[in-house]
Order: sequence, then C-alpha cells, then structure tokens
Amino acid sequence: MKEQLLKIEELAKAELSACTEIKALDDLRIKYLGKKGELTSILKQMGKLSAEERPVIGQLANKVRADIEEALNEKLTALKASAQASKIASESIDITLPGKTQTIGKLHPLSKVENEIRDIFMGMGFDIADGPEVDDDYHVFEALNLPPDHPARDTQDTFYIKDTNERILLRTQTSSVQVHVMETQKPPIRIISPGRVYRSDAVDATHSPLFHQIEGLVVDKGIKMSDLKGTLEMLMKKLYGNECKLRFRPHHFPFTEPSCEVDIMCFNCGGKGCSMCKDEGYIELLGAGMVHPKVLEGCGIDSSVYSGFAFGLGLERMVMGRYSINDLRLLYENDVRFLEQF
Ligand code: PHE
Repeated sequence: MKEQLLKIEELAKAELSACTEIKALDDLRIKYLGKKGELTSILKQMGKLSAEERPVIGQLANKVRADIEEALNEKLTALKASAQASKIASESIDITLPGKTQTIGKLHPLSKVENEIRDIFMGMGFDIADGPEVDDDYHVFEALNLPPDHPARDTQDTFYIKDTNERILLRTQTSSVQVHVMETQKPPIRIISPGRVYRSDAVDATHSPLFHQIEGLVVDKGIKMSDLKGTLEMLMKKLYGNECKLRFRPHHFPFTEPSCEVDIMCFNCGGKGCSMCKDEGYIELLGAGMVHPKVLEGCGIDSSVYSGFAFGLGLERMVMGRYSINDLRLLYENDVRFLEQF
C-alpha cells in the first residue's frame, strides 16, 4: 500500500508538471483527491491493515495528499501568472509606432458656394426660408401666374407624381417658395430660399434633371427695381470681387413685371468672348424682376401698398463660373479626385 501511495504521488506530480491549462488542473484535482479519486479509493482499504501498519500508512497518505494539494496550488498560481503575462503581452501597444492619420472630409463645391451666398444675404438682413420639393400645381404654377397652357407645365419639363385633379409634382423652380412665404408672412419680407429643383431634362454638360436654385424675395413699401439691382450687385461683388460686371437684359417671366435676366461678364475672357461664354462675353446667371401685382394679390398682399422684387439664381452656374468647371456632370459624379481640389 505504501508503494501504491508513493506511485500515486509520483504519477500526480508527473501529470501536473505536464499540465498547461487551468481547466485541466480541476480534472487532475478530481482524479487524485476527489471523493471517487485514486487516493480515496486506497484509503478505503485501510481497514484491511494491521493495527501497527494503520497509523504509518495513514500518516503517509496524509502527507501524499498534502503534497499533491500543494503541487496543485503551486501549478495553479504559475498557470495564472503565465496566462496574465501572455494577455498583457498580446494587449501591449507600441506607442513608438506612427499614428493613423484621420482623413477629414471637405464640403462639396455646391455647398461651399451656397454657404457663402447664405452668409452674404444674412449679412444684408435676409432670413432663410424652406419650402417643399414635392408641391402642388397651385404653388409651382397657378399662384405664380402661369396659365394652364403655359409650356413650363408640360410633362416634357415637369415630373408629375400625381396627375389627377389635384396635380402633385416635383417643383421645377424655387419660385414656389415665394408663394408659401407670402401666404404665411406679412411684409416686410426679406428671404432667400436655397434648394433642389427638378426638370425632366436629359443629362449633358449643362443639363441635369436635378439642380439647385436660390430664390430671393423682398416685399415691402416702396421696393424698386434699383433695390433689386443694388442687392444683386452687392452679392456678385462679394462673390467674384469688385471688378465683376453685371448685365441686366429685359426678359419675360409670368410672375414678375418688369422681368430681366442677369448675366455676369465672363470670368475666363473678361468680356472678349471665348469658348466658356460661347463667344458672348457674358454668362447668364439668373432670372429676376418686380413681383407681379397679380401674384401679390393672390397671396393676400395689397399691391397698391406693397411692391417687391424676386430673383432665382442657378447655383450650379455660379459654382461652375467660380471654379472654371466646364461640365456640370462633374458636380454629381462624386469623383474624389475632382472633389479634393476645392
Ligand atoms: N423661377 C425662374 C426660373 O426658374 C427664375 C426667376 C425667379 C425669375 C424669380 C424671376 C423671379 O427660371
């Protein structure tokens, strides 16, 4: 029995020293020291021993148990320590390595110029108004004095969402916001309204079914055409510098009277004529005019007391002129090599 006990100790120690996992240690503890373990099963046979042998073997058995227990605990401590050491090693950070640079995005050129224009108008005391992109026929056409047979209502130009009695469509111009604002605000009114507009056009270098306009509207007592001119000249000088020259040409819009189109002297050739301005010397930027009395009256504003001016400028044109971009599509393709330049 003595040999059996010593053999158990020897085996247990051998297995322990080969053990590399904390989980496996528990199994060893059960195997050697558990209720059904090897040591216990030997101790159960103690009854067979003589009275002299019993205390000797008993003592030895206790020693073997204590030795195995101690070896188990030592191994447990060692395994825990090495597990922690390898965890620390795997989580260590080499602070001498170069850091990862954060790439910071940039504003799209359309947003940049729009923000500049917003700032300039806010500096002149204008508010920013918002209007729906999906609107009804009344706000986009009828209230703006566009008769039912006006070509702008043609399905060739307009995206209709519902073409029933109450026609719902994607706005073709931000002028619809003029109506929304005059329906809800009393003069004095001084707003600009930047936003997306939609026309059923095929995509090419100067056309896109989606583009951006910035509408302007001022209604007050005694507003004159010269106020319109002064405001637009101030805008363009701030955007393009004091040398820039504007040209006001008579034009027709159903919702302004008189109406005009405003051109800017070509950025590229300074008025001499080049491929950018198609030999015109000037580039068209916007439509404008004095708000038609019918439009004021339709929105409940007394046209014998109040007058106003309105304009609608094409944001893409402004951006293309500003940065000498010759193809509108570049603004929508989102090619980083292009966008990174701004
Ligand atoms: N809405 C017109 C267009 O899209 C521009 C415009 C706005 C003209 C305001 C006059 C007054 O062409």
